[in-house]
Amino acid sequence: MARRKIIIDTDPGQDDAVAILLALASPEELEVLGVTAVAGNVPLALTQRNARIVCELAGHANIPVFAGSDMPLSRPLVTAEHVHGKTGLDGPTLPDPEMPLQKGHAVDFIVETLRNEPAGTVSLVPIGPLTNVARAFQDAPDIMQRVQEIVLMGGAYFEVGNITPAAEFNIYVDPEAAEIVFRSGIPLTVMPLDVTHKALVTTDRVEAFRQMGTRVGAMVAAWTDFFERFDKEKYGSEGAPLHDPCTIAYLLEPGLFSGRYINVEIETESELTRGMTVADWWRVTDRPANATFMGDLDAKGYFDLLSKRIARL
Ligand code: BDR
Ligand code: CA
Repeated sequence: MARRKIIIDTDPGQDDAVAILLALASPEELEVLGVTAVAGNVPLALTQRNARIVCELAGHANIPVFAGSDMPLSRPLVTAEHVHGKTGLDGPTLPDPEMPLQKGHAVDFIVETLRNEPAGTVSLVPIGPLTNVARAFQDAPDIMQRVQEIVLMGGAYFEVGNITPAAEFNIYVDPEAAEIVFRSGIPLTVMPLDVTHKALVTTDRVEAFRQMGTRVGAMVAAWTDFFERFDKEKYGSEGAPLHDPCTIAYLLEPGLFSGRYINVEIETESELTRGMTVADWWRVTDRPANATFMGDLDAKGYFDLLSKRIARL
């Protein structure tokens, strides 16, 4: 497999943290050109800090980390401290990062990188609200045809919603941005809750991280211990869904996932269903397909991959 260049756009978030770790642990397949932070799970001041903590923890303090949008395109910010804790990375107490935040803006970094690298060689991996990516497309529409693929975590069809009855968090926070991305015409692969709610960290899987005997393994176990309380209470599930690493796992082993190439539209108007991903899973309209919308994953294969790679750090 050719090595792929990616930019991870993120709002860490314990599951974002594991996604970043998985990417940094996979240098044969992935070259992380940069990590761009967006406001989402917690405000931007915390997500950019958390992104640096995670890169440093992985031993990759050289990865450029940029701060981006502190607000959705046209709405007030909605955050998720009730899931991720006050810092967004609650669980173990972590020291402030020493690696610097880059001076430029995340949106400019996305635009410049896509202009400077050969067309069709850079993929975007958004695992938070889509504000930075949408702003980059608004500021510089010429970059859109240069993106190789977008692989994002967001949305839901059969699982419907986690922040409202109808909407998944990342899409709900900035539906206008999501609409821009879903209408971009760029090859789009979507990891919705339908998939990520099958990626559950059971007791055995948490223990496997802890048993690695590494600092990173212990941290991943402690983070999942912290945020699983929320999903256990809410869904009665055995553990927390590790949403965001599904995107990176897909880039590493696409065969772990299956889905359908279908039309997906974003609801931006309705008070009741704002942020809903209206996925034409049953192909009942003639609206053109615009996304590969995943529906299932091999959970065992996913956790085998995760533990193999995280153990390297
Ligand atoms: C998504 O929302 C966030 O809380 C997680 O990090 C994930 O990206 C799941 O709905
Ligand atoms: Ca996230």
